Amino acid sequence: MKTQVVIIGAGPAGLLLGHLLRAEGIACIIIERATPEYILGRIRAGVLERTTTDLLHRLGIDARLNAEGMLEDGFALADGERLIRIDTLGLTGKHVTVYGQTEVTRDLMDAAPERGLEIIYEAANVALHDIETDAPYVSFEKDGATHRVEGVFIAGCDGYHGPSRQSIPKNVGREFERVYPFGWLGILANVPPCHHELIYANHERGFALASMRSKTRSRYYIDVPLTEKIEDWSDDRLWDELAVRLGPEAAANMTRGPAIEKSIAPLRSYVFEPMRHGNLFLAGDAAHIVPPTGAKGLNLAASDVTYLSDAMTGYFNRNDRDGVAGYSQKALARVWKAERFSWSLTKLMHRFPEDGPFERRMQVAELDYIASSAAAQTGIAENYVGLPI
Ligand code: APR
Ligand code: PHB
Repeated sequence: MKTQVVIIGAGPAGLLLGHLLRAEGIACIIIERATPEYILGRIRAGVLERTTTDLLHRLGIDARLNAEGMLEDGFALADGERLIRIDTLGLTGKHVTVYGQTEVTRDLMDAAPERGLEIIYEAANVALHDIETDAPYVSFEKDGATHRVEGVFIAGCDGYHGPSRQSIPKNVGREFERVYPFGWLGILANVPPCHHELIYANHERGFALASMRSKTRSRYYIDVPLTEKIEDWSDDRLWDELAVRLGPEAAANMTRGPAIEKSIAPLRSYVFEPMRHGNLFLAGDAAHIVPPTGAKGLNLAASDVTYLSDAMTGYFNRNDRDGVAGYSQKALARVWKAERFSWSLTKLMHRFPEDGPFERRMQVAELDYIASSAAAQTGIAENYVGLPI
């Protein structure tokens, strides 16, 4: 098989890139290891930046987003009894939208057939070849046969564990990493949210987040040591802990219910540079990971593929090679700013085991400053709604 762009991975990055390229008449094919059901079974964050919703509107894959997405005017940082509201709409003129990433993925998958976006699911042993040459290709196994897809470019959208980044020789790339000494224990339940906006709380017992998927479905998290086992967290124990950490007001409005999903996810900051090697381009989690604080994961994937589709469209449709040459640098500039924001919000809102009274005073001073400064709140709001693409 021959195409223009071989995309590896049908997560949000690969699907968005595929749609953006098809909208410009560029031939592409997505090769995915898992089944659609498996991909849609993964629960991810649920806050979309304006930059991401703009992209979905531009693609016209927005019917359900328009009907079900909840526009949020702001969110809150809680520190003990005090609640600091960040008025993102008032400070930046922009909303964020509460709409689950699983739903974004479903909408992109559903729109693929009618837009001529071919996705090959359940492809085993996906491997990249000759990425440093002008004739790169991807091989995989399916239905007992080995297949080969040749392209001008390969887009590695295969997440943190995928083969794309690993096919770049060790001596040409550089990894930057910070692993956090805790994980997030999350619960999804069919209960109304305790508050109409998200609350990120820093309590002496640890971090908590009150989030939502809709007016009838809530998502909550607490941070726990990485040694913690999910079996030790009954629904009741988790609700009790959330009630303490989120504070009396949120607790009074919190409706408890059985978990539809409950899991512990580790937190990591990671960046791989460069995001291009030869004719392989990395996008999304294949190139970088953010801790979930601030919900930047999918939004960063969306900005990567916006840059990448512009670059590839320039190459194929206008014979312009500059975009492709500049992709890595342009994408990384935005990636690092989102890495900084996610890391700083993580540091501000969590109690790190290695921290002492000095670090705690620093958190209190920073929260005091944020509470009293429109400039500080604007800085947070502008990062939260998404920096310009
Ligand atoms: N071959 C083919 N596909 C693969 C392989 C492989 N060997 N390994 C992984 N994949 C697929 C995965 O099955 C998955 O569907 O690549 C896809 C990667 O998707 P994500 O991990 O969701 O990564 P990405 O698309 O970059 O998502 C960006 O969106 O949902 C959020 O939290 C997620 O922050 C992430 C962001
Ligand atoms: C979520 O709703 O799952 C969510 C929201 C905000 C975050 C992280 C996760 O920062």
